[in-house]
Parts: sequence; structure tokens; C-alpha cells
Amino acid sequence: MVKRKRLSWRIPKGAELTELDKKVLYYQNKGHVVPTRELIKTPDQIEGIRRSGLLNTAVLDQVAGKIREGMSTADIDKIVYDYTVSHGGIPACLGYEGFPKSVCTSINEVVCHGIPSEEEILEEGDIVNVDCTTILDGYYADASRMFIIGKATPEKEKLVQVARECMDIGADAALPFGFVGDIGHAIEKHAKKNGFSVVRDLCGHGVGLEFHEEPDVLHYGRKGTGMLLVPGMVFTIEPMINMGTWEVFVDEEDGWTVVTEDELPSAQWEHTYVMTDNGLEILTY
Ligand code: MF3
Ligand code: CO
Ligand code: CO
Repeated sequence: MVKRKRLSWRIPKGAELTELDKKVLYYQNKGHVVPTRELIKTPDQIEGIRRSGLLNTAVLDQVAGKIREGMSTADIDKIVYDYTVSHGGIPACLGYEGFPKSVCTSINEVVCHGIPSEEEILEEGDIVNVDCTTILDGYYADASRMFIIGKATPEKEKLVQVARECMDIGADAALPFGFVGDIGHAIEKHAKKNGFSVVRDLCGHGVGLEFHEEPDVLHYGRKGTGMLLVPGMVFTIEPMINMGTWEVFVDEEDGWTVVTEDELPSAQWEHTYVMTDNGLEILTY
């Protein structure tokens, strides 16, 4: 059995309780999972992540302007690397746990973590996720978009559209002093209503000072469960929505590429958000 340390809200020795402390302690005492104080970003940190987000968005805009049929996914990788580095950033994926490229490119039945390659050529009708994370002055911002190459089947177009709606609906469900489970509940409901499934093996995550921080942001679940959402938390929402089964496997050869079990298409969108007093604000616009 593995003992997991319970996250807790600690009061610095001798400090007066603030209104925020009282509020978080109230939920902690009721048995809810609460963030640690370190997960609440300072205004300076949020500004740093926002600047990183601006560069990350500019990188994705570069890809959006150039992506087309006949291009290889290695060409996308080169756009990401060159633009990021020439603007003072670092592509966070490059070398992350051994990942060999600067960006993830995931086509059709590939759910996520596809590795760009010279041999992989974009074709008419492909749906492609480009997932880009930038480090700027030590701050991380993480976002992904779908691109449709030419015209795709109506089913694929709908999948791309519904995946985007799932991200937006999940974000709308996240309120200050709500719970992470509220996000997943809203996403799962919308996906199911449209006849699609939600990948369960991968999730969104806290982000900002590191690539992957607490909490895990599941894209399914029950309202009122999971970590308390406190203003100042920064995290991603990045639902992977499948046309068929939610089950996925990892390519054994490269150890990265996540593929749907039934090889039907999958779509994903991602933004980095900060929780404010009025709900989520996107940092990767
Ligand atoms: N950007 C992905 C995410 O949304 C993580 C990619 S890790 C990599 O969390 F190593 F595959 F690049
Ligand atoms: Co990402
Ligand atoms: Co992410």
C-alpha cells in the first residue's frame, strides 16, 4: 500500500488568519481536498505565466498560419522550435522526460503525445492536435489546438467542435470555491450528450512554475469532488474526446504516442487558466 500525503493548507507560524485562510480551513475541516499555499500564485507569478502564455499563443499562431496538406509534422516542430527560441523562450517539451521534439503533433486516432517526424505527412481530411508548451523566464504556459487539413468528414468536424465546446464548458463550470470535479462533470456530460467518450487515463494539471503541478484536472467525474478551487490557482483544462471508446494505449515502440484502442479519431483542445474571484481567465489567448 502506498501512503499518500494529504495536501493541506498550512498557516505560517505566528501569522494572523486572513479571510482566505479561514475560508480554505473551513473546507479542509469539512474533509475536502484543498490546495497547498504554494499552489496559489502571486500576482507577479501570474504576470510571468501570462507573458509566457502570450509567446505560446504566438507560436501556435505561427503554426496556424503555415500548416497545410503535404507538410510533415517535423516541419511543424521546426516552426515551433525556431519561433520559440528566437523570441527568448524554451520549448518545454524538448527533452522533457526524454521527449525528443519541441511540440506534440497528434493526428486522427492519436490522442496525444505524438512525436513529430519527417515521415509523417499531413493529408487532406486529417485532424491534427498541436500541443505546445513554452517556458519564458522560468514560467510555463501550455495550450493546444486542433487543425483540420482541408475538409474532413462531418463526423470528424463535429468531434473537433465538440472537443472545443467541452473545454469551454469545463472552464465555465469552474468557479472560485467550487471543485475540480465540477469541471470534469460538465465535460463528461457534454461529450456523452454528443455520443462521444472522454479519455480517462490522461488529465489536465496545475502549471506555471513547473510543467506539471497539482492538481490533476480529470475530464470526468462528480460535482463537488476533487480539490477546492481557490483564486490564484493556475491549471490546464485539456479534454481528449473520442469518437468511439475512451480506452487508449501507448505505442510500445516509441513509449509516447497515445492511440485510441479502437483506432477511431480523437480530438483535444487545451488552455492554461488562472482562477480569479469571478471564475477562470485564459492565460493562453
Ligand atoms: N503538453 C502536454 C500536456 O498538455 C504534455 C506533453 S509532455 C511531452 O500536458 F513530453 F510529451 F511533450
Ligand atoms: Co499541452
Ligand atoms: Co497540459
